[in-house]
Amino acid sequence: MDALANRNVLLGITGGIAAYKAAELTRLLVTGGARVRVAMTPAAQTFVTPLTLQALSGNPVHTELLDSAAEAAMGHIELARWADVVLVAPATADFIARLAHGHANDLLSTLCLATRAPLALAPAMNTQMWLHPATQANCEQLAARGVTLLGPGAGDLACGETGPGRMLDPAELHAALPDLLGGGALSGLRVVVTAGPTREPVDPVRYLGNRSSGKMGFAVAQAASRAGASVTLVAGPVGLPTPSGVRRVDVETAAQMHAATIDAVDDCDIFIAAAAVADYRPAQVAGEKIKKQAAKLNVELERTSDILAEVAALEGGPFTVGFAAETDDVAGYAREKLASKKLDMIAANRVGEGLAFGTDDNELELLWPDGGARLPRAPKSELAQQLIAQIAERYDATRR
Ligand code: CTP
Repeated sequence: MDALANRNVLLGITGGIAAYKAAELTRLLVTGGARVRVAMTPAAQTFVTPLTLQALSGNPVHTELLDSAAEAAMGHIELARWADVVLVAPATADFIARLAHGHANDLLSTLCLATRAPLALAPAMNTQMWLHPATQANCEQLAARGVTLLGPGAGDLACGETGPGRMLDPAELHAALPDLLGGGALSGLRVVVTAGPTREPVDPVRYLGNRSSGKMGFAVAQAASRAGASVTLVAGPVGLPTPSGVRRVDVETAAQMHAATIDAVDDCDIFIAAAAVADYRPAQVAGEKIKKQAAKLNVELERTSDILAEVAALEGGPFTVGFAAETDDVAGYAREKLASKKLDMIAANRVGEGLAFGTDDNELELLWPDGGARLPRAPKSELAQQLIAQIAERYDATRR
C-alpha cells in the first residue's frame, strides 16, 4: 500500500507509441492499492488493447462517449466525478491541442472538461512536435489553467530522434501523483460509518421508523474514502447509491446495525456514528398483522443498545465521533453527550427550520474534549469534507 491507496485514479491513454508504458503504470498503481479506471481514445487502442488494461486495472475500460451500455454501467459524468485525480499518459500533441481549446468530441476530452479533480498530462511525442510553438503555447495555456505537466523527458525517441519528447517512466509518473492529490488526510486508515434510519418491526407489515435520509452519513463515507481511508458503511434502509470505493453493509433494525457495526469496528481506526438509530423498539413483534379492533392500541417499547456508547467504551477502541440532533441548546446537550458517552468528538446540529433531515444542506457545531469548531451552513457533501478534515486533524493530534 502507498500514498495512493484507496484513491481513485482515472488514467487516460491517447494514441502514441508510449501507450505501451501505460500498462506498466496501471500495474504499479493497482499494486500500490489505488483504484484505477482507464479511458482510451480510438488511436490509443491501435497501440495497446483495452483487454490488456482491463486485465491490469480489474475494471472495464472506457472507450466510447456515446455507448449506451457503458453509460448505463458508469456514465461519463459519473466517471469524471469518481476520479480523485486524472492522468493522461501518454498525452499526444493532438490531444493537448484539443484540450487547450476545450474540445469534447470524444470520451477522454469530455472527461477532462467535466472533472473537478486535478488533471496531469504526460506528454509524449517527436521532439519537433514538442518544440513547435503551437504545442508550447497549448501547454502554457493549460498550465495557466492549473493542469500539471509531467515531463516530457529527453532521450532517444521511438522515431529515431534524440531530444525532449519522451514520456516519463511509469515509476516517475507514479511517484508524482500523490503531490497532485495533496496526500489523503486519512490515507491507510480504516473507517466505519453508520448512516440512515432504522426500522423496528411492530408486526409483519408495520414498523417504527424516523425521517433520516442517510444523506449526511453517505456524504461522510464518501469524503472519508476520498481522503484515502478504507471505508465500511453500515446503512439503514435508504434509497441512496453506494459512494464509490466504499464497502456497504445494508441493515434494517437497530439490532442488525449493532451487530454489523460491532463486527466492522473490530479492527478500525475511526468510527463515525451518523445513523439515526431507534432508541426504542417494540418489546414484542406480533406474528400476524395486528387487526384494528380496540379504540386504543398499546405497543410496549424496550430500549435498544446504544451502538455509539458501546464502541466508545471498547478497550483500545477506535477514535469515536457521534452526532447529536437537537432542537434547542445544541452546544449544551452535545457537550453533555460528548462527556457521558466518552466520545472523541461530537457533531451537533439543530433539527427543524429546513435543516438536517432530508435536506441537502446542513450546519454543524463540532466539539471535542478541549475545543470545538463551527462548520457553517453548506451542502452536505462539502460539510462532510470539512468534517473529515477536522476528524483527521484531531486523530493525528491524539492517536498518531
Ligand atoms: N446512537 C447509536 N445507537 C443508538 C442511538 C444513538 O449509535 N441506539 C448514536 C447516533 O448515531 C448518534 C448519537 O448516538 O451518533 C446520538 O444519538 P441521540 O439519539 O441523539 O442521543 P441520545 O444519547 O440517545 O440522547 P437523546 O435521544 O436523549 O437526545
